[in-house]
Amino acid sequence: MRSYSLLAPAKINLYLEIIGDRPDGYHELAMVLQSIDLADRIDLRPIGTDTIRVRCDHPQVPPDKNNLAYRAADLLAKQFPDALARYGGIEIVIHKQIPVAAGLAGGSANAAAVLVGIDLLWELGLTQSELQELGATLGSDVPFCIAGGTALATGRGEKLSPLPDLDGFCVVLAKYRNLSISTAWAYQTYRQKFGSTYCPPEDLECRRERLHSGPMVGAIAHKDRSKIGQLLHNDLEKVALPVYEQVLQLRQAFESVSVLGAMMSGSGPTVFALVESRAAALEVEAKVKSAIALPIWIFG
Ligand code: C5P
Repeated sequence: MRSYSLLAPAKINLYLEIIGDRPDGYHELAMVLQSIDLADRIDLRPIGTDTIRVRCDHPQVPPDKNNLAYRAADLLAKQFPDALARYGGIEIVIHKQIPVAAGLAGGSANAAAVLVGIDLLWELGLTQSELQELGATLGSDVPFCIAGGTALATGRGEKLSPLPDLDGFCVVLAKYRNLSISTAWAYQTYRQKFGSTYCPPEDLECRRERLHSGPMVGAIAHKDRSKIGQLLHNDLEKVALPVYEQVLQLRQAFESVSVLGAMMSGSGPTVFALVESRAAALEVEAKVKSAIALPIWIFG
């Protein structure tokens, strides 16, 4: 039987607005998500036993059910026991490039690749929307990671409307090595601080409608790069920047050089900048590195 090797790309949030509370305890969001070239590689191969085995040499990536990639395989094994019996178990090897707990959806990207890969390995023939429906039970970002590209995401983040591809940009990313921020902490803190400003449930539908014709979506449709840079937004910065001074410093270092825009991605702590060319990205890298000695990634 075949083995598969899949790329699992990270994402950045060009826009993240927290609109309100949801009955399931999550937040109602409006996001613009963008896949980037930073990616893990996921190797899947059949093994003789009926077990799921995860291997990863990164110390922060557990090889058990705490790993979203394991849970993705387990979900399919439970949904399709006949396929498990017919094809046997799976070994998942994660070659980690995406920093962990960094606001780049690394875990969700791994889970998405496992769903797509096992669908091929077990010849399940699931459609993209069926895979996304399964993915949504694992995490809010998994459905986007299955589709990739550029998309408007609403609901918990799982309701997707594709947007035109963004090209001609370079993305520069930086993150303090030993800093991670819990997504649950960021959202809970936001609720404590700003819950009183949330949109009432009866207005949510109208608010969602407005987003589809909002300024960021318009700027992307018109490929207006400087507007996109100006409109970068992330509500979670309001809770992360006051507590994590290093993220604030990094954000300021990016903004002090010539970029179209800079922003924390997701719940952080990765900060990214959009620039127009590779030459501009290298200039930004040199300037930011001279202020703060950090690993920096450039894509595009
Ligand atoms: O869906 P996921 O497991 O990635 O979410 C991680 C945490 O982020 C959740 O436990 C929740 O605290 C928070 N979250 C939220 N609203 C969302 C997405 C995530 O409150 N729409």
